[in-house]
Amino acid sequence: MILPIVAYGDPVLRRVADDIEQNSDLKELLANMFETMYGAKGVGLAAPQIGKSIRLFIVDASPFAEDEPENDEEAEELKALADFKKVFVNPVMEEETGEEWDFQEGCLSIPDLRESVDRKERIKLTYFDENWKRHTEEFDGVAARIIQHEYDHIEGKLFIDYVSPLKRRLLKKKLADISKGKVDVSYKMKFPLIKKGR
Ligand code: NI
Repeated sequence: MILPIVAYGDPVLRRVADDIEQNSDLKELLANMFETMYGAKGVGLAAPQIGKSIRLFIVDASPFAEDEPENDEEAEELKALADFKKVFVNPVMEEETGEEWDFQEGCLSIPDLRESVDRKERIKLTYFDENWKRHTEEFDGVAARIIQHEYDHIEGKLFIDYVSPLKRRLLKKKLADISKGKVDVSYKMKFPLIKKGR
C-alpha cells in the first residue's frame, strides 16, 4: 500500500524518533515503505516521512547505478550502489570520519528543491536489519551520504538545516508553499497546512 509522504512543516519531521521494541514485526510496514519509496522514485525513506516517529529507514540506491560514470573509480562505486538495498532499524551512528565533501541532496518531504550539503565521507553504523540481526558496518561515498540523510530524519533534522542562513532566507517562500501544498508533485503527500476536508 502506498502511504502519503509527509511534507515539510509537519512536526513529525522535527521529532527525535523513538526506538522500536526488539523483535517487533515490521514486515507489513516495510513492504508499504518500499512501495511508497519506489512510487515516489526515492532512494531512501525514513519512518517519520510516513508519519511514524520511530527509528527506521530504508534505502535502495540502485537508480544511481544507471548514472554514467566519469572514471574507473566512479564506475566501481556505481556498481556497488546497484546492490545497496537495506533496512536500518534502531541505527546508532558510531562515527563519521574523513574529509567533508559536497553533494546535491533532495528529499521526498521537500519536493522540487535540491541543495548542496557538506558531510563527512565515511561512517560507522550499528543497526538491526529486517530480521533483527545486529550489524556494525562502515559505509562511504554515496552510500554513506544516503544513510546520513536518512539518519538525520530520525533525529528530527532535514538537509535544508545545513544551508547558509542567507540561502535559507531565500528558500523561505518556497518552503512555506510546500507546507501549503503549493507544489507540483507526482506522488501522494500529506501537507500540514491544508485543512482536512478540502
Ligand atoms: Ni529526506
